[in-house]
Amino acid sequence: MQLIDGKLIAQKINQESLAAVEVLKARGVTPGLAVVLVGEDPASRAYVRSKDKMCRELGMHSVKFEMPAETSQSDLIALVHRLNADPAVHGILVQSPPPAHIDERAVVEAIDPRKDVDGFHPVNVAKLALGDPDGFVPCTPLGCQRLLLESGIETAGANVVVLGRSMIVGKPMALLLMNKGRGGDATVTVAHSRTRNLAEVCRGADILVAAIGRPHFVTESFVREGAVVIDVGINRIEDATSPKGSRLVGDVDFERVAPKCRAITPVPGGVGPMTIAMLMANTITSAQRLG
Ligand code: GUN
Repeated sequence: MQLIDGKLIAQKINQESLAAVEVLKARGVTPGLAVVLVGEDPASRAYVRSKDKMCRELGMHSVKFEMPAETSQSDLIALVHRLNADPAVHGILVQSPPPAHIDERAVVEAIDPRKDVDGFHPVNVAKLALGDPDGFVPCTPLGCQRLLLESGIETAGANVVVLGRSMIVGKPMALLLMNKGRGGDATVTVAHSRTRNLAEVCRGADILVAAIGRPHFVTESFVREGAVVIDVGINRIEDATSPKGSRLVGDVDFERVAPKCRAITPVPGGVGPMTIAMLMANTITSAQRLG
């Protein structure tokens, strides 16, 4: 069983990013990322801080907006418009999900697609569906694809089951893997909570991507002997034995599933560090394009 070390692979990508930032800076361009968080959700705050920290480590420009939960939609959209017009900002990320009174779609559509490093804008979703490489691909699925590539796992002709159909992970993951070319050319099935015989469908996978958002949902009956498992889940569960009283677990019951696998990602230390690395890479790509 091969443990796919996302932390190590992310470090390699971040090293490449560091070099790319140096080249841009020599041309007088510092890649800039703006991260916007509305509300107090502790997990979202932690993500936003780690994105900000990584920008600094790579020598990138970072601006962070932590806005109160009562922020109006029009104020948020006004901020997005300001960032669209700011030449020091190449990437704009509004942390999802926003509070209930904000229409997330309206906010995402306000972002200039050329600065939408999350790949959530309809123009970028369409480009991914079209197989047009000029768009931005959402960071988590992009990170999962890169983990497979870096680990020497062939996707061409493979039966891949994507468990989950969200716009952040499941749907773009399926599109990426079915598109033509390196890291693609897979036979993709998208399964979800309403899929009949879910465990059986998942057992058909050479590569299983679990992105259903439920702790330890995938057990050994979901996994064929010799399969590759990519665990996208980040779920905080109570754990009286941990000093914090809780710990992070994936969507996969690692202890039971790992012995059956050819390769598997751990949580934490699998997909998580890759998401941030790909966000930095997308922001650098934007800076290369926009100058
Ligand atoms: N919330 C969870 N994952 C993401 C992400 O990749 N981007 C944004 N904007 N919000 C998220």
